[in-house]
Amino acid sequence: MDFGISGKTALVLGSSQGLGFDCARALHGEGANIVLNSRTPDKLAMAAKNLGETVGHVAGNVSNAEDRARIFREAREFFGPVSILVTNASGPPPGPMEAHDHDAWLGALETNMLSAIGFVKLVLPDMVAGGFGRIVNITSFSVREPYPNMGLATGVRAGLTGAMSAFAREVADTGVTVNNLLPGLMDTPALQRVFAARAKQFDISEAEAQARMAASVPMQRLGEAVDFGPACAFLCSRQASYITAQNITVDGGLVGALL
Ligand SMILES: NC(=O)c1ccc[n+]([C@@H]2O[C@H](COP(=O)([O-])OP(=O)(O)OC[C@H]3O[C@@H](n4cnc5c(N)ncnc54)[C@H](OP(=O)(O)O)[C@@H]3O)[C@@H](O)[C@H]2O)c1
Repeated sequence: MDFGISGKTALVLGSSQGLGFDCARALHGEGANIVLNSRTPDKLAMAAKNLGETVGHVAGNVSNAEDRARIFREAREFFGPVSILVTNASGPPPGPMEAHDHDAWLGALETNMLSAIGFVKLVLPDMVAGGFGRIVNITSFSVREPYPNMGLATGVRAGLTGAMSAFAREVADTGVTVNNLLPGLMDTPALQRVFAARAKQFDISEAEAQARMAASVPMQRLGEAVDFGPACAFLCSRQASYITAQNITVDGGLVGALL
């Protein structure tokens, strides 16, 4: 199936590795012109090289408003107006409510909620003018099923989900769709840090920590790159033009919610 996005500019934030990179790879496979982003220039350049010769990249921190303006400007200079935006950044740290002070909440809000809203405001005028736009926010399964010790992440992501749900309706008649992708337990560098922490906490090997986590998923395995990127590419396709304001969970059946 031709997704109809060949030649369109896709800005994929937080994409030097993990789920952001998976999305970029899938969009690249559909012929979109990709601009990658992350904070670490060397890692970012290597990711761009791995993806292909024509891939652009802009280093910068999505938590910072000045960086956001520069990332958007440089992405536009690479390939023209941004038609596809994927928002992403590392998630807030786990921990009980008392572990997170006011600054931790402000930091999480900036990185995992206000950054996405800031980028949407930057890309929207071009999307509306072009009559086509696809916005996909990478959030988390915890939006559907909150866990203890995940209050910070769940709180700010629920806020983002609410804001995007309202915004999707505001622009629904312009050709711009807005959806969220909710990863379950996906085997990325971020999850590998969790294996290491759990191995230490329970005095087991990292392989055992990984196996226990996989066993908690109804499909009895962790998600892989190939499980996530294609869902992102589909939401960005012309075929997905009637799908907006949705939360699509990619989790092997992990979340035990009816809807
Ligand atoms: N993997 C899972 O199982 C899972 C489950 C639920 C939710 N999630 C959420 O999904 C998102 C992606 O997860 P992942 O596993 O792909 O994470 P990851 O492996 O840690 O990758 C995060 C990517 O974002 C970049 N990044 C982080 N903070 C940034 C910032 N402030 N500005 C710009 N770039 C930034 C990182 O590069 P630099 O460090 O160089 O900037 C890296 O390229 C996270 O929010 C995570 O919490 C993941």
